Amino acid sequence: MSAQSDRLRLGVNIDHVATLRNARGSAYPDPVEAAKVAEEAGADGITAHLREDRRHISDDDIDRLMAALERPLNFEMAATDEMQQIALRHKPHAVCIVPEKREERTTEGGLEVAGDANRLTQFIAPLRDVGCRVSLFIGADERQVEAAHRVGAEVIELHTGAYCDFHYEGDIPSRDRELGHLTDMARFGHGLGLEVHAGHGLTFETVRPIAAIPEVRELNIGHFLISASIFDGLDGAIRRMRALMDEARA
Ligand code: PXP
Repeated sequence: MSAQSDRLRLGVNIDHVATLRNARGSAYPDPVEAAKVAEEAGADGITAHLREDRRHISDDDIDRLMAALERPLNFEMAATDEMQQIALRHKPHAVCIVPEKREERTTEGGLEVAGDANRLTQFIAPLRDVGCRVSLFIGADERQVEAAHRVGAEVIELHTGAYCDFHYEGDIPSRDRELGHLTDMARFGHGLGLEVHAGHGLTFETVRPIAAIPEVRELNIGHFLISASIFDGLDGAIRRMRALMDEARA
């Protein structure tokens, strides 16, 4: 493998550009324009989550992203028939299946794969048939990693939300324990032949130990980058995150 293909990839999630737009029902800021800036700043891909309630990204945003992007789109969605139809129509590079509850503020936990294995196997197969790389967003739990492999996912994305929450709560023993689980499950998943990604809640302060896990191939980061862009500009925030990831990997 070349040095370039070994490089840790950064997927920039542009959902919260749409959150800001939708807060006023305006036409701006445009998540597609943000995605183009992210590509220029070195994003290796763009991530967008079309939620069932369309609280941020809209169907029209997905249409426009598919037309405008030069880098791959990682399309996050719940495992529903409606979302499957949308993904089959667009055939994005990657589909990341996430759990979704209407009342939650963000994707709070990982997907229950082990307990829903038959349904997920059938759900994933047509997506793979049209060429989408299917990823499952799961907690650092051996049962879920093993089940993800069994149901036919090619990729797992490990949920880093608890690790980040413990860090900001100052609960360092719990943070380090969770980092240990993430490290072990990245190795376990890689050993099964899965490609391992990670994301949720990552910031300049929390990214390095996750970026340093050798089996992790991609990070998906959104809310913090859009927040940091208030101070650094989106280009500056992405470049700084990229530099921290590269430092951690060196
Ligand atoms: N990865 C997945 C699967 C997600 O659902 C999200 C949130 O949409 C992210 C990464 C990015 O999380 P954050 O916005 O907290 O960086």
